[in-house]
Amino acid sequence: MGNKVTVVGAGHVGATCANVIATRQIASELVLLDIKDGLAEGTMLDIYQTASLLDFDTHLTGISDDYSDTAGSDVVIVTSGVPRKPGMSREDLIGTNAGIVDEVVGNVLKHSPNAIIVIVSNPMDTMTYLACRKSGLPRNRVFGMGGLLDSSRFKCYLSKALGVNANEIEGLVIGGHGDTTMIPLLSKATYKGMPVGDFADADTLKKAAADTMVGGATLTGLLGTSAWYAPGAAAAYVAEAILNDQKKVIPSCVALEGEYGQRDICIGVPAVIGRGGVEKVLEIKLTEEEKALFAKSADAVRKTNDVLKEMNIL
Ligand code: NAI
Repeated sequence: MGNKVTVVGAGHVGATCANVIATRQIASELVLLDIKDGLAEGTMLDIYQTASLLDFDTHLTGISDDYSDTAGSDVVIVTSGVPRKPGMSREDLIGTNAGIVDEVVGNVLKHSPNAIIVIVSNPMDTMTYLACRKSGLPRNRVFGMGGLLDSSRFKCYLSKALGVNANEIEGLVIGGHGDTTMIPLLSKATYKGMPVGDFADADTLKKAAADTMVGGATLTGLLGTSAWYAPGAAAAYVAEAILNDQKKVIPSCVALEGEYGQRDICIGVPAVIGRGGVEKVLEIKLTEEEKALFAKSADAVRKTNDVLKEMNIL
């Protein structure tokens, strides 16, 4: 079984993802591709120059807009496209990114027909839907990364609220990957297996959930563009779960086939990720309030998906 990953897009998120995959030796072979001349080559050369300092020997290739070196990839992570600027929503990016994602997925599959494709570009739920529909691949092989990042932000804010180690917190965010569509599940959040409600009052916990929802916007405001360390690390985490058949439960944007009462939509749900990609969608028990929020989130994601039809992309 191969162990080759391609990351498309050598911007902030793609470069960070490549750096994590290389330095942690998640793949034996890693290709980074960007449309901008020299960017991917330069980035990979820079990363390679840390090999003797950080002690890794991942085989690295950087290329400009030529997919031949990506051939035979087992996993392809798509980060190409524009990020949001302060004041923009992820949904504002659809006009530019839909064409990019559509073209990239077509090119990827020409050279790596068996790859598992992980979509990161925003608006991620809609870009995943586009990739699923255009590629015609089964849902296990095309899915999106967003809920994993949102969940790690949720754990971060909960750990700050409780004043404890973030690694001891469990927290799950489902639904769309938008500021108003994501659903941090406070009812399921735990500190070392104990409900977080045993350690903080309701207002403090609600604030942690609210901070999570605008977590991306907060960073965009501070940085002037969207964040990259946690997004890049999250995409690398998904690649590792696939390549090493870890069967981890990762909140992922998956095409639903009746689960949670939804179909013909890609949206965040907990899924078991292993060598087969999405090996199982977990249908967890939600409260009535959470069920209503999920339905509302799905409506909002569908509305963004409809823009693809208006643009004649689907
Ligand atoms: P960036 O602007 O730093 O990098 C994007 C790169 O894509 C650029 O280097 C650009 O040259 C490249 N690109 C554009 N068209 C291309 C094409 N046709 N083929 C190959 N490469 C192409 O942006 P950044 O910050 O890296 O963000 C990338 C995307 O990821 C954005 O859409 C952003 O909104 C999204 N994002 C998603 C997250 C998630 O959790 N799903 C989290 C953070 C960002």
